[in-house]
Amino acid sequence: SCSCSSTNTPSLFVPDSLIYARRHARLEFQISDLLLACYNHANIVTIQGTIKGLTTSQLEDIGCQIILGNTYHLALRPSSELIDELGGLHKFMNWPRALLTDSGGFQMAIMRVSILSFKSFFDDHEVFGSFMVSLLHLADITEKGVTFQSPVDGNPMLLTPEESIQIQIKTLYPKCFLFNISCMCIPPRLLQNRIGADIIMALDDVVKTTITGPRIEEAMYRTLRWIDRCIAAHKRPNEQNLFGIVQGGLDPVLRNICVRGLVDRNLPGYVVLSQQLLVESHAYHYAIGGLAGGEDKDSFWRVVAQCTAALPEDKPRYVMGVGYPLDIVVCSALGADMYDCVYPTRTARFGTALVPEGLLKLKHNAMADDVRPIDATCTCMVCKNYTRAYIHSLVTKDAMGSQLLSYHNLFYMMKLSRDLHLSIIQGQFPEFVCGFLQKMFPKGD
Ligand code: GUN
Ligand code: ZN
Repeated sequence: SCSCSSTNTPSLFVPDSLIYARRHARLEFQISDLLLACYNHANIVTIQGTIKGLTTSQLEDIGCQIILGNTYHLALRPSSELIDELGGLHKFMNWPRALLTDSGGFQMAIMRVSILSFKSFFDDHEVFGSFMVSLLHLADITEKGVTFQSPVDGNPMLLTPEESIQIQIKTLYPKCFLFNISCMCIPPRLLQNRIGADIIMALDDVVKTTITGPRIEEAMYRTLRWIDRCIAAHKRPNEQNLFGIVQGGLDPVLRNICVRGLVDRNLPGYVVLSQQLLVESHAYHYAIGGLAGGEDKDSFWRVVAQCTAALPEDKPRYVMGVGYPLDIVVCSALGADMYDCVYPTRTARFGTALVPEGLLKLKHNAMADDVRPIDATCTCMVCKNYTRAYIHSLVTKDAMGSQLLSYHNLFYMMKLSRDLHLSIIQGQFPEFVCGFLQKMFPKGD
């Protein structure tokens, strides 16, 4: 008996057996225990880049059920006529499974943050002053929506909540091409009953969490006002799942108001936390040389725990832009269900493989004559067929190097999600987490 069979409800749901299992599997870890593990992990994170490197049929091979794209890019190119002509986005990119799109709010926020950081630099140089002010207007957030400059022709564009939804609900018959695709690492429990519908995100007002004061509150209330505009603009609620995004920075009171507001709207899923908190906690780690940086990680997890505790148990909870294998395990222990991140493919570009022990840097000279596979316990196509030495010889020299590493890394993430899921269902979640942590931190540090 499948409770998703009603034709009038979105097909996303969490089955009772899993709610029960999860409720009883929840770990009562001390946050500080997890903190310690994560803190070490954070020190081996690599730098940024952009990457794809896998064909859609390879994504299917490794069991990937859903991929993510950004509305910001969606709105730009290529033309809707071309995609329509080619039979829609799924067909255009040869992806028969589910798609999730982000609303564009976050991309705008990122753009704004980078302009602002330039601005503080140029503020010392009078001559650039007025130029920077005009640039800032190109990444403005007002009650109407977010304004930004088109990277295609430089013209100012306004993205409203209504427009964001309209672009996203065309995903099945899309306006344009997703060019910033990352792999969603989604525990299969959400997929075992088949998500027939795609997932779309509400437009949110995203601010840096290091900002304090009224701006955080304004963004939270605006995100709540915008959710109503998104709901009103969403003409296909039965085919596509509109997720609300909890904002409110690190403030438990604001978070609580936002969670309650979104729960009142009875949405098919909720974003409990977004990437910027995590990103900044890492920045913080680096900035202060590791001392006390853990406090930020602690707040990050407290926010996840607070939100998941207040959300309905039968709706998926999504942590956006996260993350590292360890963060996924920790957030799952805190009650989260869905994750997306470019990290597995991005880090592959830089020659790093994800392995149960942590990271394996294929660029290291020691790899040059290492005839073992990346991970002897991995059953992926790459580990079955290639040696570390071979990949070492390709890495940074030939695209095949990052392609093979991307394949292995995504395979690793998919397996991690599956194992996590299975361990919850089988009542072995605490053992799974302990095993995971022991392999990654054998010395207990
Ligand atoms: N991706 C990572 N963080 C965020 C966020 O806060 N909002 C949106 N819309 N997307 C994100
Ligand atoms: Zn492998």
